Amino acid sequence: MNAVQQLDINLKGKDLLTLADLEPQEITTLLEKSIVLKEKTLNKQFDHPLKGKILGMIFDKSSTRTRVSFEVGMIQLGGSALYLNGNDLQLGRGETVADTAQVLSQYIDAIMIRTFSHKSVEELADHATVPVINGLTDMYHPCQALADLLTIHEKKGKLEGLNLAYIGDGNNVAHSLMIACTKVGMNVSIAAPKGYFPDETITARCKGFAAQSGAKLVINESPLEAVKDADIIYSDVWTSMGQESENEQRLKDFHGFQVNAELLKHAKEDHIFMHCLPAHRGEEVTAEVIDGKHSVVFDQAGNRLHAQKALLVEILKD
Ligand code: CP
Ligand code: NVA
Repeated sequence: MNAVQQLDINLKGKDLLTLADLEPQEITTLLEKSIVLKEKTLNKQFDHPLKGKILGMIFDKSSTRTRVSFEVGMIQLGGSALYLNGNDLQLGRGETVADTAQVLSQYIDAIMIRTFSHKSVEELADHATVPVINGLTDMYHPCQALADLLTIHEKKGKLEGLNLAYIGDGNNVAHSLMIACTKVGMNVSIAAPKGYFPDETITARCKGFAAQSGAKLVINESPLEAVKDADIIYSDVWTSMGQESENEQRLKDFHGFQVNAELLKHAKEDHIFMHCLPAHRGEEVTAEVIDGKHSVVFDQAGNRLHAQKALLVEILKD
């Protein structure tokens, strides 16, 4: 990352609902800060910049990585985190999002939420007087995309000009990845079955980001086209949380969109394979690929901790 991208940023008190709201320099500076924090974490150096701060984490969907990495991150930064199951809150019995936002703001310093509707998260952020971080909605997964860029930078030594191929559902993970990559000048090629393309409005915005950064964004139905010359191949589940009733139909519709060794013959020789996890071996990716030598999925999962710590420090610092 060049000198211009290392300019300091001011995210204090801000929400992170989607990476579309961040400037490219804000994203790359967050990555620089993640690298520094990761180094410190690996050396067991913890200097507690968030001493006494409390993050409330509302979960309306399951989670392993998001829950544990946010909680561990807050502890390592000197603060603490509360796990709040949406069903156990009065929210689950009909208390409004607006009232919940105002009440939680009386007790805690920031809210992380994983839920279904992105509109609910916007409403929460509108009414909360503390920052709100999106821990995944049906539309976006911005914290995942930050960790993804950190991982790509770590493995490839740069971001700009790299070719990323995403094979599968045009879902929340695909949306945030498209936004993140087009903002920082990476070329993105998405291959999805008809009917499962990314959201048109988000795609149009990403085309705008790509025009500004000099990147290319291509969306079609050809996994083979997408992986040609790819530096990074990315996949996610075909059935996301909340879509379980569509599983059978999706298994049929995504036939031919599996990332397997045969497909990867067309990628660059030194490609990396990425997946946000959890994965379904034998569906969107074969065991041979996800457990193979090009796969970086566990480093990628680990980087959730470091990317989110940088974000938390910037948002919550005094
Ligand atoms: N990738 C991700 O967000 O994982 P979890 O669902 O386990 O949080
Ligand atoms: N697209 C997946 C991502 C899980 C981290 C889902 O929303 O279930």
